[in-house]
Amino acid sequence: MRFLLTGGAGCIGSHAGVALLNAGHEVVVLDNYINSSPEALRRVEKITGKHVTVYEGDCCNEADLDRVLDNEPVDAAVHFAGLKAVGESVRIPLDYYRNNLDSTIALCKRLAAHGIKRIVFSSSATVYGDQQPPMREDMPLGVCSCPYAWTKWMNEQILRDAVVADPEWSVVLLRYFNPVGAHESGLIGEDPSGIPNNLMPFICQTAAGMREKLFLFGNDYPTPDGTCIRDYIHVMDLAEGHVKALEYAIEHTGVETFNLGTGEGYSVYQVVNTFETVNNLQLNKETVARRPGDLPVSYADAAKAQRVLGWHARRSLEDMCRDAWHWQKLNPRGYRQEEDL
Ligand code: NAD
Ligand code: UFG
Repeated sequence: MRFLLTGGAGCIGSHAGVALLNAGHEVVVLDNYINSSPEALRRVEKITGKHVTVYEGDCCNEADLDRVLDNEPVDAAVHFAGLKAVGESVRIPLDYYRNNLDSTIALCKRLAAHGIKRIVFSSSATVYGDQQPPMREDMPLGVCSCPYAWTKWMNEQILRDAVVADPEWSVVLLRYFNPVGAHESGLIGEDPSGIPNNLMPFICQTAAGMREKLFLFGNDYPTPDGTCIRDYIHVMDLAEGHVKALEYAIEHTGVETFNLGTGEGYSVYQVVNTFETVNNLQLNKETVARRPGDLPVSYADAAKAQRVLGWHARRSLEDMCRDAWHWQKLNPRGYRQEEDL
């Protein structure tokens, strides 16, 4: 099969590209590199020994989409393209709504015009809001905590409405929990621009000496060690979930939602301790006040993806910490080093 990956040069898209190519599929990428580098795709080719067809363009632009779809017969699309920084979405909400909603609408319109009515969408656990975990796909959606999260919530609704209007559509909504880690080769991984917002890249940059200290946000939550609990999932497990989701989308019509998580929660202290232990190092760290907006506990009920897709996460927290550090050590400046030479 041949799949279009919008945002395929990004962190999750590049790992999904590896998983799809390794599973014998072909991939076509459309990316405007607003938060990524074409180097990631060269490395996907290096890892897999397979070719990636790449188009530079904006997924909100129907002409850019037609340029791809007129030339590339694809069986389905995975819509990774989007802006994803929680704090930034509070500062520039209109840019988030425009990019994250327009891209989905334009993509669906142009896919349908080309007779391709199958899409897998990158949603997020954040659509559950502040509910009692484990989060189950059939829970009513929650109240979102930021514009970024609302864009995921609204995109899900847009895609559900598209299926109501045209039952020929096949829509798979994937709610990611906390993707971390990197491909085991160390060739692709997360490449945050500026100061990282998320825990694992901040840990890695502190270990590398790029950040003086890791700040741990709050140890007075109602959890066993007082720090927040999340469902961290290895990005290659997440990537492999997309192979199963696409295969499902090919076989079915209608809309289906799946959590992609491990079903297990780890606290901030557990992540930090595991990182230090498996990588045999000590982080300079300090526990400080809570970060506003953080939920105490979030983890998936991962049973539906196992039951329906036959997928479950296989890699451990140790693997996530080891692979994240391996990527960081080999690529202290992310993808920039090779381009700058
Ligand atoms: P990323 O920023 O690394 O990748 C997104 C890619 O989309 C980038 O390559 C970017 O250049 C591209 N892009 C953005 N807008 C575009 C547009 N209009 N046209 C073309 N390309 C565009 O992010 P990621 O971590 O790989 O996330 C992928 C998707 O998964 C996003 O939709 C994100 O919101 C979602 N998601 C991520 C997480 C996470 O923790 N990383 C969690 C839940 C959901
Ligand atoms: N944390 C720290 N120090 C840091 C960074 C994070 O202690 O420097 C803590 C946070 O307070 C939280 C935990 O580590 O308790 C995880 O934080 P992340 O930022 O890594 O992950 P979040 O669960 O906050 O964010 C994730 C996704 C977002 C999504 C959000 C909504 O990365 O895309 O869930 O719940 F919007």
